[in-house]
Amino acid sequence: MESRSSVECFLDVATLTRAAADRVVACARAAIAARGRFLFVLSGGSTPRSLYELLAADPYATQIDWSRVHVFWSDERCVPPDSDESNYRMARETLLDRVTLPPGNIHRIRGEDDPEAAASSYDELLHHVIGRDSTQTFDLVLLGMGLDGHTASLFPGTAAVREMRRWVVATRGPEPDSWRVTLTLPALNAGADVMFLVTGAEKAEPLKQVLEGSPVEPLPAQWIRPERGVLYWMFDAAAATRLSLPRA
Ligand code: 6PG
Repeated sequence: MESRSSVECFLDVATLTRAAADRVVACARAAIAARGRFLFVLSGGSTPRSLYELLAADPYATQIDWSRVHVFWSDERCVPPDSDESNYRMARETLLDRVTLPPGNIHRIRGEDDPEAAASSYDELLHHVIGRDSTQTFDLVLLGMGLDGHTASLFPGTAAVREMRRWVVATRGPEPDSWRVTLTLPALNAGADVMFLVTGAEKAEPLKQVLEGSPVEPLPAQWIRPERGVLYWMFDAAAATRLSLPRA
């Protein structure tokens, strides 16, 4: 089924963040009403911080039944969970420590372990929580986009981007001698809705490439096409300056 997509440009980060929080609430309520739980994949990096902080504060915090929410990560740096590089730590400090989400529903990637071991144990965990033959996987996948068009830790030209069987792999990070654990395209596309949040003038060129370019070798973010849900591209005016689309 052709995946549906929506492209939305917002005046500024604050307006975008409120719209993203509204969409998270709507997805959560629909999933909990339909299946009794909301399977939410968090992304790392810095862009989502403001969204997580907004979701943890009134009025948003009381609009979601956090006891029914399960959180996962799109990727993790291979660092300890208390490292300031950890995507888990960022989400814990900005959101998870501030809402009543049951600890057993927080499914972090073990960045402190050997990368391959962490990847295979996370793959096992995902299939255990979701169910191997379940047709319904994640309800909402939150993603960011890097300057090179990467998303999660799927960096251009790597084997991780080409992985079509496993849901989780280890891959080298952008920093020397660094490793990451990342969900792969089959996992990220198996979900229902995917929401990209992109802000800032430095993302204008890669955003144009991803939304309007047709490079011989598509960028990793261009391979994100949810099988059953909607692909939401949400960005601010600063990131939209190179687009030929009509802007807000
Ligand atoms: C990570 C993220 C990564 C991030 C992009 C954008 O672990 O860094 O998963 O894919 O979303 O690099 O990062 P910023 O939001 O910091 O620009």
